[in-house]
Order: sequence, then structure tokens, then C-alpha cells
Amino acid sequence: MARRPIIAGNWKMHLSIAESLALASEVRDRCSRFRDRDVVVAPPLTSLYAVKERLADSRIQLAAQNCHWAAQGAYTGEVSPTQLKDLGCTHVIVGHSERRQYFGETDEWVSRKVRSLHDHDLVPIICIGETLEQREAGDTMSVVSTQLEAALAALSGDEARTSVVAYEPVWAIGTGRNATPAQAQEVHAAIRRLIAKRFDASVADAVRIQYGGSVKPENAAELLTQPDIDGALVGGASLKSDSFARIVSFREELA
Ligand code: PGA
Repeated sequence: MARRPIIAGNWKMHLSIAESLALASEVRDRCSRFRDRDVVVAPPLTSLYAVKERLADSRIQLAAQNCHWAAQGAYTGEVSPTQLKDLGCTHVIVGHSERRQYFGETDEWVSRKVRSLHDHDLVPIICIGETLEQREAGDTMSVVSTQLEAALAALSGDEARTSVVAYEPVWAIGTGRNATPAQAQEVHAAIRRLIAKRFDASVADAVRIQYGGSVKPENAAELLTQPDIDGALVGGASLKSDSFARIVSFREELA
């Protein structure tokens, strides 16, 4: 079955409000014409409201980069799914390796966040991936499967079906060294098999699995045309509208 590609730009902790608005306008102008794929931007929290207003009436969707699992409460400095929904977000990135690595985010938290996002009709973009040491030790699949199982633990098949998984090998993030299309495809196919085992073949067939880690215009087409790669989560190259738009237009770049 043909899955609709989803390309998301993670702006991380970059850009002022004015810079975010300028980039959002350019992404809107360059990427709105692609009606057969989903385009999502994840600005920093400080720019979400302004970018939401700028993207009103466009087809570009809005993601947050993180959230708490509670709907509200005494959690200083955190932001809830309800608040993100109120802001106009449709997606939330969960379990990014930078959060796991620098902020102690655990599989248990990821599981709670994913559950809560579905409770609030938000789509989680669930990031999983191994470090270089884990890959070199031959542990890629056990790491990825532990992270995935935890993230999907509290979901029904229908909720899993509408979630997005992002396979992001940690050694490829921000390093300029992407996984080869064959390396990425191998893990994506294995992730799909795990989802089929946990739920069923129809869920596995529907769920979209993005690749992330040094995606750029030069490698997007060969990665995104692999049978089990359904899009990209883009960091560095999403901060310039030209490179992001060229990734979004991977099919046309091939022509
Ligand atoms: P990168 O980041 O594209 O800069 O490697 C990807 C990510 O962190 O999602």
C-alpha cells in the first residue's frame, strides 16, 4: 500500500521569532504545492504561536519538539499536550536522542507522552535509534526494538497506525554522516516487522517510518525512495528553506 510521505523539519533550539517567521513564510511558499505529502515544521517553543499564525490557511503542519505527559499541573518549565493543541500543533516529537542523551528522557517517559498525545488527538513522532557504540557492538536491533516496544506499549492498533516513527541513528545526527540507504532500509523493514508482530500486518503496513540523521538534498531521494522509508525528520537542512524544499521535493528532484 502507498503510504503518504511525511517530511518534518526540526528547528531545534535555533532562530528568533523574526527568523522563524521568515523561514515559515519561505517554507509555506515553496512547499505548499506538494499535495501528495505531509510537510511539518517544528519551531522552538518561543516561535510556535507566531509560526502558527503565519501558516494559517496553508497546508504546512505544526509540531512541537517535546512535551510533558500530564494535561496540566505543577511542573515548572514544562508544556502539556493540551497547551500544544491550543497553540495549533498537530504533531509532537517525542524521545529525540538529544532529549534522551542530555535530559535523561527514558523509555518510560516516552511511553507516557505517546499515550497522552493520543488522548489529546496529537500525532507523536516517536524517535528511536542506536548510538555508534551500540551499532558497533551489533546491538542496533535490540536497542531499537526496546525503544519501540516501550513507546507503543500503551497504544491500541489504531493508535499505533496513526503514529509516526522516526528511525534516527544517533551517530548520523548532526554529523554529516547519514546512514546509507541500505543500512536505513534494513532497520526500517525490521521496525515494520516488529510492529506487525506487536499488532498486525495492516497496522505495520500503514504506519509511517521516517529516517533522520544528516538528511540533505543530495541524499534525500535515494533514502526516501527505499520501500520502507516514508519520509524524513530533518535537522540542520531544515533551517534553510531552499535545502528543506529540495528534500520535500525529492520525487521531483529525481525526474
Ligand atoms: P540532522 O538532525 O538532520 O541535523 O542530522 C536530525 C534530527 O535531529 O532530527
